[in-house]
Parts: sequence; structure tokens; C-alpha cells
Amino acid sequence: MTATAHIPVLLPECLHLLQPRTGGVYCDTTVGLGGHAEALLEASGPDGRLVGIDRDPEALVAAGKRLARFGDRVTLCHGELQDVVEILDALGLLDDGVDDAVGGVDGLLADLGVSSLQLDSPERGFSFQRPGPLDMRMNPDAGQPASAFLAGLSEKELTRVLRKYGEQPRAPRVARAIKQYLDDSDETDTAGLARVVAAVLPARRPGTVHPATRAFMAIRIAVNDELGQLERFLERFVRVLAPGASLAVITFHSLEDRLVKRRFARLSQVAPDAPAGLPLTEAELGRPQAELLTRKPLRAGDVELAQNPRSRSAKLRGLRYLGSQVAA
Ligand SMILES: C[S@@+](CC[C@H](N)C(=O)[O-])C[C@H]1O[C@@H](n2cnc3c(N)ncnc32)[C@H](O)[C@@H]1O
Repeated sequence: MTATAHIPVLLPECLHLLQPRTGGVYCDTTVGLGGHAEALLEASGPDGRLVGIDRDPEALVAAGKRLARFGDRVTLCHGELQDVVEILDALGLLDDGVDDAVGGVDGLLADLGVSSLQLDSPERGFSFQRPGPLDMRMNPDAGQPASAFLAGLSEKELTRVLRKYGEQPRAPRVARAIKQYLDDSDETDTAGLARVVAAVLPARRPGTVHPATRAFMAIRIAVNDELGQLERFLERFVRVLAPGASLAVITFHSLEDRLVKRRFARLSQVAPDAPAGLPLTEAELGRPQAELLTRKPLRAGDVELAQNPRSRSAKLRGLRYLGSQVAA
């Protein structure tokens, strides 16, 4: 798949939430193949800036090609979602430095999960359709490949991973099949793993996804610590937003969406960190740090679903940062 063939998910909805403006500074924390970033740069022209972050060096090469026409309006950084404060601070975009960060950028985007480039490259180990190494790391230079991760887990631990991240039916049976495959085979690959998983699950009915889909998703989420990254990002992102700036987050998994929903609800409450039961004055209560831009997550409509099946499980939530918590 080429970078230009990639279709960004829920693009008009993201632009609506982020309201890019001429001269604004935006950060796409998961720049991928640069689809959303390109639209943000177009909408903030002629002089808006975009910082694009990705943990996958190959994604940055693809994004670099797609965004080359915007010249020095674009800065691409190899890094992780959870480190957004440090990355933007190193670029001089935070007024008060990393410890006491005061915003910041005019809009922040996170489009989580894997890119079509990763899924469609068998050598990256995400694909169960074509054989590839059991890797699945978004950053191939960090952490453990799936083969080592799986080898280090007991059957019971693997069952838990499959249940928690994949809601895998018959998880103990699938875990046993995977462990046996790893123990008995001289050479392992993604196609072999998919085959042994499918062999212990009911046959695929027409129109349904491959039986190994859930197991692959669960292993990928664990290998890349995707929920841990998101949690740490959600704890800190407010520090990089200028007052009035928004965050838009696209998730593809109910556990991710739950984390976003809870954190957004908390930030949009009055005095979320006040000790329970203490009477507070109006000034102490202040006003909420943020306001919800989406009460319910936005989903792809029929036209987008027909063009881009990947959008099927996408959920988009938005939040606007209002400024410091306590009223002046
Ligand atoms: C769904 S794709 C983004 C597609 C992009 N919005 C576009 O329009 O081309 C997700 C990207 O986020 C990256 N990614 C996922 N989790 C990340 C994390 N914790 N830190 C940095 N990058 C991450 C992946 O490597 C992948 O390239």
C-alpha cells in the first residue's frame, strides 16, 4: 500500500473538532501515513505548523514523503504518544518547560492502533493472511517481538491476555494451541500462528472476520503496551494544550474508548481532584478544566464504511481545554 492510498478515518469529523486555523500549531501524535496531518496542514495554511509523532520509523518516512510539499511547516519526530510533553518541550513549543508545562499547541490528534502500512507489510508480523516473522512491534528497534513475548508467558498468562485485550472466545484452548505451536515448531511465523488458532475455533462463516483476528489483536496490543501508552498520554496531554485548544482521539477498541471516556468525563467535571466530602467555596470549586465536544463517540457513516472498512470500529471523542482549573 502506498501512502497516498491510505484513507484517514473520520477526517471531516476530526477537522470539525479541531477547527484548524491559519497560523495555528497542531500536533498529530500518531502521524502514521500523514493523512490527517495533510488535512490539518491544508486547513491551517499558509503558515500553520504541524508536529507529527510516530513510534514507527517507516511511518515517518511515508509521512515525510506525503507532507514534503509543506516544507518547514512540518516537523516529524520519532517518539511515543506517552512522551508528547517532552517532545513538544524539546521543540520549544511549551512556554514553561516540561515540569510546569503551559500550552502549547492549538490542537492535538491521536488516531490509535495500527496503520495500513503496518498491516499490509507481512515482514512486520501483523498480518495473518501472509507469512511473516512473529514480530508485531510498531517500533522494530524497541521492546520484545511477539515471539519472545509469547515465549515468556505461561499458558494461563496468555489466556488472560487473549481474554482481556481480544475478548477471545475459548481463550484457554487458543492459548494452549499457541504455546504448543511455539514449543513444537522449529520455525514459526504469522501464517502458522493463524492456522493453529483457526484450527481450535469454529469454522469461519461467510462475511465474518478471520478466526485469528482477536488473538492477533490481543497479542499486538500487549506487545506494544498500547493501553499503558494511552493511559499515560491521557494523564498528561492537558499540559501541552493552549487554552481553547482541542484534543481529538480515535480509538478502535472498547478498552481504549473506555479510558478516553473516563478521563474526558473527569476533566470536564468541576474540581475533579477535590477531596470528597469537603465543603468548597465557589472560588475553590472554580470551573472545569475542559468541556466535552462529544457526549457520545462519533462513528463512521454508511458512505465512509463502504469506502473504508477499517472505519467500522472507529470511535472519535473530542475535548476542549478551557484553561487553568481554578477561577481567577
Ligand atoms: C492508525 S495509524 C495513523 C494513521 C494516520 N492518522 C493517517 O492518517 O495516516 C496509527 C499510527 O500510530 C502509531 N502509533 C500507535 N501507537 C503509538 C504510540 N503509542 N506512540 C507513537 N505512535 C504510535 C502507529 O505506529 C501508526 O503509524
